Amino acid sequence: MLKDKVAVIYGAGGAIGGAVARAFAREGANLFLTGRLRAPVEAVANDIVSAGGPAETAEVDALDEQAVDKHLRSVVDKAGRVDISFNAVGIPDTKIVGVPLVELDVEQFTLPIATYANSYFLTARMAARRMVANRSGVIMTVTALLSRTGTPLVGGYGPAMAVKEALTRNLSAELAPHGVRVLGLRPQAMPETDTIREAFEPRAKATGMTWEQFQEFLATRTHPRRLMTLAEMANVAAFMASDKASAMTGTTVNLTMGSLDD
Ligand SMILES: NC(=O)c1ccc[n+]([C@@H]2O[C@H](COP(=O)([O-])OP(=O)(O)OC[C@H]3O[C@@H](n4cnc5c(N)ncnc54)[C@H](OP(=O)(O)O)[C@@H]3O)[C@@H](O)[C@H]2O)c1
Repeated sequence: MLKDKVAVIYGAGGAIGGAVARAFAREGANLFLTGRLRAPVEAVANDIVSAGGPAETAEVDALDEQAVDKHLRSVVDKAGRVDISFNAVGIPDTKIVGVPLVELDVEQFTLPIATYANSYFLTARMAARRMVANRSGVIMTVTALLSRTGTPLVGGYGPAMAVKEALTRNLSAELAPHGVRVLGLRPQAMPETDTIREAFEPRAKATGMTWEQFQEFLATRTHPRRLMTLAEMANVAAFMASDKASAMTGTTVNLTMGSLDD
């Protein structure tokens, strides 16, 4: 589905970034994997290269405009263009969740909103400048169902996800006339990632649940009564990035397995 597509992934050493990279590689993409630290990104690239796929790595802080721009310039120099930009950046939930809103200080509230919005805005804008020139490209990111559900003790995380979904719609409204699609993916929790446990632990006492009970609680809210794997999420991402999804733009795909009604 992605044969010879040039894909840049930000936060590629993370759970979602790594899974998406592997799925894109299986579908034939030429990968440029980036992260704040090189080691976790290289681990993903090594898997892809061992399986016969092309993958290059670079240290890029996705909040640093100059670093993002410089890296994209090097991608275009090497590969001729950028077809897919995927922002999978995530910051530790331990810094964000677990404090009631009435007790939360403004810095802690703003941290996820500024980090997620700025990183998505910067990486999307820089990619868009290259994609519009080619009248082709797909800009993607990932959010969570807290963008649309009232959930206690998650601080600025829900608003941050809502900002990203609004930005997806607005970027699409401006870029789709120039051949660039913009899409989000809103997965249900994937318990094989550390992220979900890290998000649960600061709230464990307040919920009165154990980790096992929490996973069970999330699973019972889905229609199939189970949670999803990273591979299932990444397969959907690969389809969305492909030309088969050419009619899809300006939306965040609800991959919550029925937990959240449209
Ligand atoms: N995991 C799930 O089940 C799930 C479900 C729904 C939504 N989500 C959301 O999806 C996003 C990604 O989740 P994840 O589970 O993949 O998280 P993760 O495993 O923690 O990965 C996030 C990656 O982003 C990198 N990163 C952070 N700041 C960066 C920056 N400024 N520049 C470049 N890279 C940066 C991190 O690198 P460092 O290690 O250097 O910080 C890490 O490799 C989060 O918003 C998460 O809440 C996750």
